Amino acid sequence: MEETRTKFEAAGQGHVFRWWDELGERSRRRLLRQLDAVDLSRLDEMQAAIAALKTPHQRNLSPAPAFGLADENFPYLLNDAARAMAPQGEKELRDGRVGVLLVAGGQGTRLGFDGPKGCYEILPLTGMTLFEVFARKLIRVGREYGKTPPLYVMVGNHNEAATRNFWEDHEYFGLNHDDVKFFAQGEMPALDDDGKLVMAAKDAIFTGPDGHGGVLQALHAKGMLDDMRRRGIRTISYLQVDNLQTPVADAAFIGLHMSEGAEVSLKVIRKNEPGERVGIYCLDDGVPGIVEYSEFSEAQANERDDRGRLKYWQGSIAVHLFGVDFLMRLVQKGTDLPLHAAHKKVPYIDAEGVEHQPDEPNAFKFERFVFDTIPMASNVMCLEVPRVEQFLPLKNADGPHGPDGVRQSYQDFFSAAVEAVLGKKPPQIEVDPAVAENARDLIEYLKANDDAKSWDLSRPLHIKA
Ligand code: UTP
Repeated sequence: MEETRTKFEAAGQGHVFRWWDELGERSRRRLLRQLDAVDLSRLDEMQAAIAALKTPHQRNLSPAPAFGLADENFPYLLNDAARAMAPQGEKELRDGRVGVLLVAGGQGTRLGFDGPKGCYEILPLTGMTLFEVFARKLIRVGREYGKTPPLYVMVGNHNEAATRNFWEDHEYFGLNHDDVKFFAQGEMPALDDDGKLVMAAKDAIFTGPDGHGGVLQALHAKGMLDDMRRRGIRTISYLQVDNLQTPVADAAFIGLHMSEGAEVSLKVIRKNEPGERVGIYCLDDGVPGIVEYSEFSEAQANERDDRGRLKYWQGSIAVHLFGVDFLMRLVQKGTDLPLHAAHKKVPYIDAEGVEHQPDEPNAFKFERFVFDTIPMASNVMCLEVPRVEQFLPLKNADGPHGPDGVRQSYQDFFSAAVEAVLGKKPPQIEVDPAVAENARDLIEYLKANDDAKSWDLSRPLHIKA
C-alpha cells in the first residue's frame, strides 16, 4: 500500500487515499487492486487530451477519394469497381479468411436501456434482439459461402457477464459456441476540472470503458489477434452493435479492400445536410482520416463542388475492414491510438464523502476512437453505401434513431422492396436477417418464391428463412 500511496502522492493524486483509515479490509483490497491497474504515466496524455479539446489544432482539409454509388435510386447499386471485385471477396469468405468483430462495450447511455444494447428487442414483429440479428446475418453468410466467419464480440467490464449469459442462454443463436469469442476492453479513469482523479466511492475511483478504439489493445491483450492468426483470418469486418442494417461480411467491400491493397477500409454515406452530426472522411494535410463535424467551420461544411453537391459529403458510418497484419504491426510497435477527452457528467463523491449525480458536465472522460487507425494505414479505401440500406443505428430513447424511428425506417425500406415485386406494401414487415440483408436480395428472393404472389399483404408480413 505504501508504494502505491507514494506513487499517487508523487503524481498529485494522493486524495484517492483520503478514506483509507476508515475502510475495511475488503474495501482496502478493492481500492488497491483498482489503483494498481491505473497507469499514472498516462496522466500527461490525459492532460494533453484536455488541452486539445480546449484548443483544437488547425487543420488543412481537402476532400478524400471514394468509390461512389453506381445507382443512387432504390434499390441502389454499389460502385462498379466494388461489384466487379465481389468474387474476390466471396472467395475470401469461402476460404474462411474473414472474421467479424462486433464492438458492444459501450454504455448505451442515450438509449437508457438497462442491459447491454445488443439485448435490445428491436425487430418490429418478433422483437428479435440486436445480438440475434447479427447472429442470423452470420448464419446467412455461412449458408452462402459454406463457412461462417468467427465472431469476436468486444464487451466492457460493466456488461461482460450479462452479454456472455445472454448468448449462452440463447445457445449462441445457432452459431458454433467455439466460433463466438467475447473479450473485455480496458477502462479509463476520469479527471475533474482540477485534474484530480474522480472518486466514485470511498473505495473506488470512477472508471469507464476506454472507447471503441480500446479494441486495438484489447484484441492484442486478450489473445484475439493470435486467435485470428491461428484460424488463418486475414481481414476483419468491424461493426458496431447498434447499427441494425449493416451487413456482417460484404463480399464487394471485402473484394475491393483486397484489390486496392488497403490496410483499412471504411463505408461512408452521403451527408443529408451540411450540418449533419457525423464524422467526415477527408484528408488533413493530405493524410486520410475522420474529422469530427464540430471541427468544420460553417462555410467549410457548406462548400459545394461544380455539380452543386457538398464537397465534404462522406459521412462515416463506423463500418470498417482491417487487415490482421496491419493491426498486428500496430500492436507490435506498441502504437497507441490517441486519447480524446470529453467534458461529461460523471457521478462522484465530494471531499466529505457525499455522493453526487451532477446535472452539468463536471469532469473529463477519455476514450480512444477506432477510426484513428486510418491515418496510420499505408493505404485506405472508402466505399459509399446507400444510407437507408446500411445505416440504421439505435442510439436514443426516441426520434429517428430511437427504437420507434429505427423500426419505422426498417419497415419503410423492406416494404418498398415488397411493393416493387408484389405491387403492395404490407402494414408491417419483418425480414429474417438470415433471408435478405438489403432490398436487392429481398427483391430477388421474392421473385424466386412463387408462394409470395399469394401472400396476404393486408396483414403484417413476416418473411422467415
Ligand atoms: P457510441 O459511441 O454510440 O456509444 O458507441 P454507446 O455506448 O452505444 O452509447 P452512448 O454514447 O453511451 O449513448 C458506438 C459503438 O461503439 C461501441 C458501442 O457498444 C457501440 O457499438 N463502444 C463504444 C464500445 O464497444 N466501447 C466503448 O468504450 C464505446
